[in-house]
Amino acid sequence: MSKHVGQGSEELAAVAEEALRHLAWLRSAGVAEVPEPVLPPPSSSVEPAPPRAIRAEPLPAPAASPAAPSTGAYSLTGKGCGSPSLLAIRRDLGECTRCKLAGGRTHVVFGVGNPRAELMFVGEGPGADEDAQGEPFVGKAGQLLTRMIEAMGFRREDVYIANVVKCRPPGNRNPEPDEIEACEPFLRQQIAAISPKVIVALGKFAAQTLLRDPTPITKLRGRWSSYGGVKLMPTFHPAYLLRSPEEKKKAWEDLQLVMKELGRLAPRR
Ligand code: URA
Repeated sequence: MSKHVGQGSEELAAVAEEALRHLAWLRSAGVAEVPEPVLPPPSSSVEPAPPRAIRAEPLPAPAASPAAPSTGAYSLTGKGCGSPSLLAIRRDLGECTRCKLAGGRTHVVFGVGNPRAELMFVGEGPGADEDAQGEPFVGKAGQLLTRMIEAMGFRREDVYIANVVKCRPPGNRNPEPDEIEACEPFLRQQIAAISPKVIVALGKFAAQTLLRDPTPITKLRGRWSSYGGVKLMPTFHPAYLLRSPEEKKKAWEDLQLVMKELGRLAPRR
């Protein structure tokens, strides 16, 4: 077999594996029938997602900011900063020391994805894997989130993913009110810069923080709310879905409402 053919079959095997993972998520979410997705027309005016390579771009030197350290000990990556406004927010955030989470983190986990995404996911805060890699949702819960995104007919790089707090709370504890207060302005600015059509708040923490509403996630989920004029759908956090797979069906129902809102579900025939 030529090298070329070998590469082709490897790619095919990878696609088949991905398709199986996708089907497994749908099956575990109780989906018996796959809805017909609405594909964008070939000459779609939708701008393609920027190449993933954007994540590895080094940032220019940070702009002078009152809270930014004046030392040169700053090493930013371009993760999640694919537009001038996101870049400015990232620069302003800098090697942040605005709250006590700074002491225990390895990376500030800013966000990742398409700076012009119509769909944005907001989680709670980075865990160990995210802290190590500087990218949100890359651990087990992140892999499930990626499958959920793909089941909705998007690629991970089509959407934007961020968290309420940008630094890992020690031992994965919940972020505390002063930490959220220090970090939320950056999330608010990210949302304004991206201007998504829909935000999906993942879990109690993101939903309650964004909505300033202490109602349990079991009551908030599946109902449209608004965050600064952007439609917001709360649903279960993927980490909770890993622990309670029987709840995946409800999460899938919530995501289908989002797909419908974004014109991604064909009407039933
Ligand atoms: N959980 C979150 O809420 N965010 C992450 O980035 C990873 C896990």
